Amino acid sequence: FFLGLDTSTTATKAVLVDDAGRFVGEAATAHAAPASPVPFGSEQDPADWWRATRASIRDVLDETGVTGDDVAGVGLTGQMHGLVMLDEAGHVLRPALLWNDGRAYAECDTIREAVGGLDRLVELTGNDAFAGFTAPKLLWVRAHEPETFGKTARILLPKDYVRLCLTGEYAMDRAGGGGTLLLDLESRDWSGALLDALDLDPSLLPPTFEGTAVTGQVSAEAAEATGLKAGTPVVGGGGDQAAQGVGVGAVEPGTWAVTVGTSGVVFASSAEPRVAPGGKAHAFPHAVPGLWHVMGVMLAAGDSLAWHRDTVAPGVSFDDLTAEAADVPPGADGVAFLPYLSGERTPHADVHARGGFLGLRRPHGRGHLTRAVLEGVAFGLKDNFGLLVEAGVPAPERVRLSGGAAKSPLWSQILADVLDASLEVPAVGEAAALGAALLAGVGTGAWASAEAATSAAVRITKTTEPRDAAAYDEAYARFRRLYPALQGLWD
Ligand code: XUL
Repeated sequence: FFLGLDTSTTATKAVLVDDAGRFVGEAATAHAAPASPVPFGSEQDPADWWRATRASIRDVLDETGVTGDDVAGVGLTGQMHGLVMLDEAGHVLRPALLWNDGRAYAECDTIREAVGGLDRLVELTGNDAFAGFTAPKLLWVRAHEPETFGKTARILLPKDYVRLCLTGEYAMDRAGGGGTLLLDLESRDWSGALLDALDLDPSLLPPTFEGTAVTGQVSAEAAEATGLKAGTPVVGGGGDQAAQGVGVGAVEPGTWAVTVGTSGVVFASSAEPRVAPGGKAHAFPHAVPGLWHVMGVMLAAGDSLAWHRDTVAPGVSFDDLTAEAADVPPGADGVAFLPYLSGERTPHADVHARGGFLGLRRPHGRGHLTRAVLEGVAFGLKDNFGLLVEAGVPAPERVRLSGGAAKSPLWSQILADVLDASLEVPAVGEAAALGAALLAGVGTGAWASAEAATSAAVRITKTTEPRDAAAYDEAYARFRRLYPALQGLWD
């Protein structure tokens, strides 16, 4: 058996597969919601992730009857970009600054200037600087909390903090490493030029590993805490989007992945680095050795619907809420929703962007608002489809949909129509944790390649075909005009 662990924003998820790639079971343990102690802040306590990891491993073993002795490998994945700061002894110095933390927007300018301009930054990393990336947040801590920065001996990503707790080793996968903005995209390892320009000590960073490489073994202490066997190999794994790519079978260029979790992502793989003009899309190594990926990331996708439900319809189930939206025609009778509740990453790179409803009239009700939210998120994803095309990625042959939206027939249909693509939904919903488990299987010899692993493990259970793509043309054209019209109003 192989175990995949996903340290997501909302929960730690554990998925077990057998050595034929069959799904055996899963468990999830919720995290405390992110705190926002400063404007644009989003923080979590790494100790909470390790608590949830221990609980989820014990639960998935208990529920499936698989013993720790039967687990041949562990793969890790998790929310990307999170900055975990550790002292010399490996103790956490402050809460982690998460992927949707936007406080470091001024440091993005600092980085561009320090390396000699945007073009040079893109040449090195394939990316522009985005506020949620790790490097700008590290510079923010250096500028605003010099005492903490002074004590920092090592930085890690959320998944790699869990790795430290499991194995005692400092290590980072290269897909996640890309999201720090400190990785050289071509060589898939730390960029000396960038570290020099930013005056960062290379000893802050752990060694990097491919997603399938073994980075260490479960320690005796962690075995005691989790029920796993001491000595079980732990592989590099990948950032959640790259691992998700593996878990839905996006391990070759023709298959794209669309994910609507807290964030919303459009993801494509390539055999060479693909970079959007100005580094506007994210270009990182894939969790699969020899591949890269390029993606667009919205900060509030499923999170927009969660906010809408909690604010406008507390206690109402998502099914009941979206049923009201099914009665409203495509285009929501002119009601538009801007999904920029946490600012926006791609394509706008604007921490000051704000969400909103526009186009309301007296007869409109909650169903219109809900429909506008579902459509606004789909339109944001369509903007990101465009970014991948700008990065020179050939159009997809198939698109795999995962995350919460895949559970809603209405939202799946809206997405298929707006993106004008057939959307295939894989059987295992926890695709990032599944992908991590498959990487562990490849790394310990169960499969010869990630492609072999995904063809064994990924089964499509449902396909949503586009029915009426043109029905959204007018509403999408309106949506495209709204952000530029409102830009700067809240800066
Ligand atoms: C990717 C990103 C998000 C988080 C969410 O760039 O920021 O998808 O990884 O989990």
